Amino acid sequence: MKIIHILFLFTFISFTICHASVNDFCVADLKAPNTNSGYPCKPVAKVTSDDFVFHGLVAGSTNNSFKLGVTPASVTNFPALNGLGISAMRVDIEEGGFAPMHTHPGATELIISIQGEVTVGFVTPTGVYSKVLKSGDLFVVPPGLLHYVINSGKGKAMGYVAFSSEKPSVQILDLLLFGNKLPSNLVAKTTYLDLAQVKKLKAKFGGSG
Ligand SMILES: *[C@@H]1O[C@H](CO)[C@@H](O)[C@H](O)[C@H]1NC(C)=O
Repeated sequence: MKIIHILFLFTFISFTICHASVNDFCVADLKAPNTNSGYPCKPVAKVTSDDFVFHGLVAGSTNNSFKLGVTPASVTNFPALNGLGISAMRVDIEEGGFAPMHTHPGATELIISIQGEVTVGFVTPTGVYSKVLKSGDLFVVPPGLLHYVINSGKGKAMGYVAFSSEKPSVQILDLLLFGNKLPSNLVAKTTYLDLAQVKKLKAKFGGSG
């Protein structure tokens, strides 16, 4: 009898903990500072249906050296995503363009190919996982892995991306190596790249040193 009581108590406590959330949602109050546990909530009395819709997942400008346009719908422009661990992005890539090697620490990325043909891939210390995607294909990139997308077809490519984070961070390999003030000789030494090549890439990506 006692054990049954204890079991009941445990079940009751874990049930209570799992349903401890006091709010059905927490639309971000973007005027307050962001924290590791997200933005504070906008008062429920001020939340309206408009908070749960995002307009304008339209093509971003592709006028850059990657010929890549990205339009994110993350917590900073779609505040209802606050705390929900999900967001979206539209990606447009002109013929010959690409998304350079990058990672999203902590976020899984689901690529939904709509138009054109892209080659996507990610790498691990032991493997290369790459596929050509056509309209209607999906490809998943596990969290934190270095990956790329190349428009490998004719004409424009377009797709949508879902992330398992309301504000995925992006770390672009070229910018980490060549877009800051890490000394060129240090970068050359630690990557085996020629110093002249490092300096050339520093100039391209806005780094110094
Ligand atoms: C593309 O960008 C360059 C420089 O960043 C600018 O001079 C040019 O006018 C832009 N072209 C278009 C079509 O926006």
